[in-house]
Amino acid sequence: MKQIKNICCIGAGYVGGPTMAVIAQKCPEINVTVVDINDERIKQWNNENLEDLPIYEPGLKEVVSDARGRNLFFSTDIDKAIEDSEMIFMSVNTPTKTYGKGKGMAADLKYVELSARRIAEVAKDDKIVVEKSTLPVRTAEAVRSILDNVGSGVNFQILSNPEFLAEGTAINDLLYGDRVLIGGDHSTPEGQAAMDALTDIYAHWMPREKLLQTNVWSSELSKLTANAFLAQRVSSINAMSEVCEKTGADVEEISRAVGSDSRVGPKFLNSSVGFGGSCFQKDILNLVYICRSMGMDEVADYWEQVIIMNDYQKKRFADKIINTLYNTVAEKKITFLGWAFKKDTNDTRETAAMYVANHLMEDHANIHAYDPKVAPRQMYEDLNYLGTRSEEENKALLNVEKDPYEATEDAHAVAILTEWDEFKDYDWQKIYDNMKKPAFVFDGRNILDVEKLNAIGFKLYQIGKSDS
Ligand code: NAD
Ligand code: UDX
Repeated sequence: MKQIKNICCIGAGYVGGPTMAVIAQKCPEINVTVVDINDERIKQWNNENLEDLPIYEPGLKEVVSDARGRNLFFSTDIDKAIEDSEMIFMSVNTPTKTYGKGKGMAADLKYVELSARRIAEVAKDDKIVVEKSTLPVRTAEAVRSILDNVGSGVNFQILSNPEFLAEGTAINDLLYGDRVLIGGDHSTPEGQAAMDALTDIYAHWMPREKLLQTNVWSSELSKLTANAFLAQRVSSINAMSEVCEKTGADVEEISRAVGSDSRVGPKFLNSSVGFGGSCFQKDILNLVYICRSMGMDEVADYWEQVIIMNDYQKKRFADKIINTLYNTVAEKKITFLGWAFKKDTNDTRETAAMYVANHLMEDHANIHAYDPKVAPRQMYEDLNYLGTRSEEENKALLNVEKDPYEATEDAHAVAILTEWDEFKDYDWQKIYDNMKKPAFVFDGRNILDVEKLNAIGFKLYQIGKSDS
């Protein structure tokens, strides 16, 4: 096996960008080139001003600043990067299919296929191809079929190396992750050598015992399973949040009690307005699709319920706002604090905020949204993506605000959709003074100080608690 001196990563997104930046920082002897068809994105990655990188992640700009120009490069010259590299990561998007067979369920693999075809056409010598994107189990078979059938005579080794980073903590997760999965073919010397080559890269900064080698199918399926388990925990606690509201129990006390059992553990038991993000829903739908296609209807139904529960939680939150505001929010100003799907990211894919906004807008609410990191254009794009009403109507019903105090002035209600830390420290007395009375707050993330807000005079609703 040749020594790895050059790495190429196809896809400069939320995964490709930070992952390759960390590899470049930790492996100064390897040149890492991240390529993308999106010219604008590559320009942003090359921006002199590190505040203008295409994605916001705590710690990212420091890592990029260390390595960029030294051994980390961002480029649109995909063919050259493929040709020059011994190892090629595929980190392209694999969204839910929006057309044809498997529409709304299956993963759309067209970007993976295009990348594999490009590699097959351009490669002139042996390559290790690494699946970094999240893929349905047995995708490596399809990738192999494409690579081997173009007929260039080049020998390809295919590895699965799914990414477990979470947004908002990506750099920390990449540096100190719980494990790295490297799936490959143990049964041949070339397969084993390829797995070892990738293992050696991670060993620059990760302890060897965290680098797990498995067969390819286990690696692919582990990623879907991990996301399904995590999302299931959120849906489980969200299911209990409604039971709490109806019985006088407190969901945070339930989380603490259940999470203290070392067999369960405390993480991912925060009840919320519903999970969002580009992965959970997409990956579970994909798992459900795979199970149904293989005739495992009971398994498919079991996992589908995680999504059904999540949709219900978002709708339940919106309905709570409407019911509390005397059964209508028509022409009422409802202020959203937060739009991102979680704090410390500017990503809004599948954010609960857009679904809650959409539901309230069906009841003719005027939404005023403030988020510290999300661009106004993005919020409109999110609503337009739902396709419920025309762009003009969305524009008329959604106002994007730059200042949280202006955003809450004269509001009938404030809703917290993202758990940004800054929301806790606002001058809530000032917000109260400027709102319509009764002043309602719907805390979809349970981050506000109940006693303080009640003392000011707010009517506060939190998830999984009695109204106060
Ligand atoms: P993304 O949309 O942010 O980035 C993907 C990039 O690939 C885009 O910039 C796109 O232009 C580029 N691309 C698509 N086709 C291309 C082609 N043929 N040639 C060159 N570039 C191409 O997506 P992401 O969030 O980085 O996710 C990538 C993969 O990683 C997905 O499979 C996702 O499920 C998985 N994943 C994502 C996360 C996350 O937190 N976002 C975490 C773990 C795994
Ligand atoms: C997830 C996985 O955590 C990560 O391992 C995988 O690589 C990609 O998918 P991400 O979607 O970026 O990461 O963020 P995550 O922290 O998992 O949160 C997902 C959603 O669940 C967010 O909307 C978050 O607010 C919500 N959530 C999470 C809860 O509502 N309650 C919790 O206790 C935890």
